Amino acid sequence: MSWVVSVFRSAIVKKAVMAVTGVALFGFVLGHMLGNLKIYLGSEDFNHYAEWLREMGSPALPHGSALWIARAGLLAAVLLHMLSAWQVTRLSHASRPLHYRKLGTQAATYASRTMRWGGVIIALFVVYHLAHLTFGWSWAHPNFVAGDPYQNLVAGFSVWWVAALYMVAQLALGLHLYHGVWSLFQSLGWNHPRFNEWRKGLARVFAIIVTVGNLSFPLAVLSGVVR
Ligand code: HEM
Repeated sequence: MSWVVSVFRSAIVKKAVMAVTGVALFGFVLGHMLGNLKIYLGSEDFNHYAEWLREMGSPALPHGSALWIARAGLLAAVLLHMLSAWQVTRLSHASRPLHYRKLGTQAATYASRTMRWGGVIIALFVVYHLAHLTFGWSWAHPNFVAGDPYQNLVAGFSVWWVAALYMVAQLALGLHLYHGVWSLFQSLGWNHPRFNEWRKGLARVFAIIVTVGNLSFPLAVLSGVVR
């Protein structure tokens, strides 16, 4: 039994958990951004899409249950991703010799610091985002109308500082995705000078697609393209 415990304590397993949950979360942010593009088709299409999310799986499954299963999976992935990130950070601090800390800024420390702070910003953003556009709590969205996500989005982003807050969070998410996809390949062992340029290019393309798409929503409302 002790080998099971030691396997789970190893940094490799923690990194694998971070990579697998990272892929699932990446799939979610990409899918969420692509779904939100429906905002450009108008309120009927967008609200219909939001309603479809609740109808997914029916009639085989009761109304809304597939969405709840997806939510549970998403929550589990977020919690495991944060837990393994915290554990990997603790392990790397514990194993770093003292003289190493004086070496100044290195590429690896820069990336890991960006990942840690980026992760904290994204977690805070998601809490605010749920209060704002999903639960519509009055402190976050005073004009929230249940069942009208299009109107909630337009009214929400019409407040300039809310739009600015979203945009800052999307930039943090973009950097996180860039470093995340890059180090995901590293964890999978695809670290060879021949692949490295290719890895960097792929990480950049993924991050740019999600970031540009997400930035476009608040910008479209602020500029009056979506109203
Ligand atoms: C500008 C970018 C974004 C826009 C316009 C946006 C828009 C929305 C809207 C309108 C909803 C409510 C959907 C509904 O009730 O039917 C929603 C839900 C949600 N969003 Fe976003 N979102 C954005 C970025 C993000 C990001 C970056 C994340 C995660 C990192 C995220 C995570 C979520 C989650 C977890 C939900 C709740 C889904 C559910 O349980 O029903 N969103 N978003």
